[in-house]
Amino acid sequence: MTHSENTCQFRGEVCRNHREERNGHRAVTLWFTGLSGAGKSTIAHAVEKRLFDMGLNVYTFDGDNVRHGLCGDLGFSPEDRSENIRRIGEMTKLFMDAGVICLCAFITPRHAIQERLRAMHAPGDFHLVFVDCPVEICEERDVKGLYKLAREGKIKNYTGVSAPYEAPEAPELRLDTASETEEQCTERVLAFLRERLDPASAR
Ligand code: ADX
Repeated sequence: MTHSENTCQFRGEVCRNHREERNGHRAVTLWFTGLSGAGKSTIAHAVEKRLFDMGLNVYTFDGDNVRHGLCGDLGFSPEDRSENIRRIGEMTKLFMDAGVICLCAFITPRHAIQERLRAMHAPGDFHLVFVDCPVEICEERDVKGLYKLAREGKIKNYTGVSAPYEAPEAPELRLDTASETEEQCTERVLAFLRERLDPASAR
């Protein structure tokens, strides 16, 4: 659905294929979902660093950063979370068109949103990574001190405390940050990506 009537899409001569060819790798989106404190951003940024150092074209979108700017008008109601994820999903499609590997770290708490994201992307473009960690451990880590505030009722609709988190049913990859180290998780993501970035492999 669009409210932008009387618009038509323009396709330039430089296509995604050309950009991918020049980069020497495919563009894909890896979408990290999980509770706050599960390790989504940490792993996404560690993977980004490794890919960047290999000379690949990669960018990390992170909930806490994006919510200061592009999605600064959105809160944490179910509707706002849905719109938050829709916007980033659309943005990753543009970035993939620009040949970029997109690493996205957002809670993405509901099945419906996870599945809508998948439906928005072409097959092979989108991979869901479940960063799994029990809420008790996320809360123990409480890196940002927000679980404490949520328990005290000072933050409403806090995922895992007063708002639901639905673990994805069929993620392409599951990381268990309660039992695996950051390095192990990073290696597993890189191994997962290896053949999916190969320009020679079938889409
Ligand atoms: S999502 O639900 O829309 O996917 P997103 O990943 O963008 O969430 O933002 C989550 C981050 O916002 C958390 O890591 C936390 O730092 C912060 N935050 C602030 N309020 C909340 C809340 N009510 N629930 C969850 N995270 C919150």
